[in-house]
Amino acid sequence: MFYHIVTYGCQMNVHESEKIAFILEEMGYKPTDKREDADIIVFNTCAIREGAEERVFGNVGALKKLKKMRPSLIIAVCGCMTQKINTAKTFKQKFPFVDIIIGTFNLYKIGDYVRELQNKKVLELWESGAIDETKGYTRTSGENAWVNIMQGCNNFCTYCIVPYVRGREISRTPENIIKEIEEIVRSGKYKKITLLGQNVNSYGKDLIPSITFAELLRRISEINGDFKIGFMTSHPKDITDELIDEIANNEKVLKELHLPAQSGNNRILKLMNRKYTREHYLDLIRKIRNKIPNIKLTSDFIVGFPTETEEEFLDTMSLVNEVKFNGIFAFMYSLREGTVASKMEGQVPEEIKKIRVNKLLSLEKKIQKEELK
Ligand code: 5AD
Ligand code: SF4
Repeated sequence: MFYHIVTYGCQMNVHESEKIAFILEEMGYKPTDKREDADIIVFNTCAIREGAEERVFGNVGALKKLKKMRPSLIIAVCGCMTQKINTAKTFKQKFPFVDIIIGTFNLYKIGDYVRELQNKKVLELWESGAIDETKGYTRTSGENAWVNIMQGCNNFCTYCIVPYVRGREISRTPENIIKEIEEIVRSGKYKKITLLGQNVNSYGKDLIPSITFAELLRRISEINGDFKIGFMTSHPKDITDELIDEIANNEKVLKELHLPAQSGNNRILKLMNRKYTREHYLDLIRKIRNKIPNIKLTSDFIVGFPTETEEEFLDTMSLVNEVKFNGIFAFMYSLREGTVASKMEGQVPEEIKKIRVNKLLSLEKKIQKEELK
């Protein structure tokens, strides 16, 4: 799979294109100079002069033929032009074959949009693959270097499309990970290494010989150099005492944990197939805070899961209120075709989801304010 980015305008745009490149490479795309070879073409536009805009219109218009020949081609337009609502609308009218139109503020979501477009295709034609160890990264994230340690997910939370589009869990070998991090550290450009995986806590279970995530952290921290290690995401059901102790005692490991709870209600957690209860989650939080008092805890929540009642939603509110996270992400449940939850009766109306997500976010705001005080 190939990507091709056309950048217009100033250094800011050039730099933002580096971000797009990173996201696309993370998704498995490789760069190409020839737009004929590309599976995704991104126009990062500039609005400073009419001429620049016209050029963009001309060049995007010229893609119509390519798109007709290869309907799977994804065309995205972003940047300053499309930040202007009217120009964005013009794009939509003039070039209905453009798949993604985003402004400067939402540029970072390009990966999500591409994935959304891909989902339909991938769901029809799913095949898994091994982790590629041959390509490097266009690292653009300042002093932080992302390092992927595994792909896929085995959990099949009933709302989630990840296991379908990313396949089963495959861990990279510790040797390959350590080699990559040694190079990153040797470059002297990065102070922080952030390990990435859908569920890093189950890292290494599929390897022979198997290795735990805590052990991986230990081995990475033995690399000489001045750097910190962060990681995401963790599934509550897979957090072990060994891991908590490693975070607590390893000076190189950041005292940060993103631990998505998704809901505070046991019936909903069960329907979500999360494999833990509210009580288990709260016990876990207590244990973690006990051993690592300065831990920065964050979480994800989904509101409006099928059949969620107001009362059950209030359990999520009370959990958030009880834990007082350092930050949360709140999502309205979104139906993903092909998932178990998509076939459940009792889908919650959008208006109710909106009300619930706003309630949860205002509670979070209130908590943050109080914590600041
Ligand atoms: N609808 C809404 N949010 C979802 N997430 C995953 N799948 C869905 C969905 N179908 C959220 C979860 C997860 C985060 C990365 O995205 O909260 O932790
Ligand atoms: Fe896997 Fe996370 Fe999706 Fe659950 S929410 S299926 S753990 S990626």
